Amino acid sequence: MAKAVVSLAGKDILDLASLSVEEYELVLQTAAEMKKIMKRDIKKVPSLRGKSIINLFYEASTRTRTSFELAGKYLGADVVNINTSSSSVTKGECLRDTILTIQSMACDAIVMRHPIEGAAVYAAQVAKPVIINAGDGAHAHPSQGLLDLFTLREHGKKVGKGLKMAILGDVLYSRVARTNIAAWTKLGADVHVAGPMPLIPHDLKELGVTVHKRVEEAIEGADVIDVLRIQLERQEKGMFPTAREYARIFGLNSNRLKLAKPDVTVLHPGPMNRGLEISWDVGYCEQAAIRDEVQNGVAIRMALLFLTVMGGKTIENAD
Ligand code: CP
Repeated sequence: MAKAVVSLAGKDILDLASLSVEEYELVLQTAAEMKKIMKRDIKKVPSLRGKSIINLFYEASTRTRTSFELAGKYLGADVVNINTSSSSVTKGECLRDTILTIQSMACDAIVMRHPIEGAAVYAAQVAKPVIINAGDGAHAHPSQGLLDLFTLREHGKKVGKGLKMAILGDVLYSRVARTNIAAWTKLGADVHVAGPMPLIPHDLKELGVTVHKRVEEAIEGADVIDVLRIQLERQEKGMFPTAREYARIFGLNSNRLKLAKPDVTVLHPGPMNRGLEISWDVGYCEQAAIRDEVQNGVAIRMALLFLTVMGGKTIENAD
């Protein structure tokens, strides 16, 4: 049987729809090795020594920015953070000029978060360094999708046929939902969505997703529940009732959780609006993998930087 080499060398990571299942697998296998480095007393290897990575964030972030910074540092790279609120962006510099300015400083990868959908795709068109999309508006957040796959695998759930995946809440504004729907349907899982109808996009059925009016139907028998953050910063007024009503009708609480399989895994990309989309107790319950997602985010981002910048490890797959 013929073998095909899978490599992400020099590849921009813009979304999960455009990566193959074999490329997901390469990242996940590499992240497992990277996690071993994270567990060492001395969390430092020279794999990216002499390489420079710039984190360019036009939007707030705790998890993604910090974990990309740690990931680069654990691999020996020089990492610089640009917070656009204190950069020349405030003087009116356009995205193209900012990207070209950074490129002139001989960086090897730009990790970019931007509020506008397509900003990372545009950056990849104008820039020579690798572009890793750390979230562009409501479009995509590929490293979040990969860390969710990795976390679920650690929890004994290899996403694919036979798994019921429920996604709850603000799908319309969620790049995490779009990313996970792309990956989970590609992997053959049974994906169900529920939330306030104004926050459910019309095209989901075409993507092979089952849409429910009531969250209970989506949760019933679920192996995985992905609770989405209500994106208060992107919302127009009137997309859902009051916070109290939202929690009552759509929030994941311990009573609703009982409808899922007993070994359900609860995901949330963070930051959580506790008491709104997720109750305080469910956020801390034993089925919640939320802090595992954060830890695995570092390993996944180490893998992405290593594989794209260095051409890192490759795996061979049967054609
Ligand atoms: N999940 C996520 O993207 O979190 P941050 O906004 O804190 O990076």
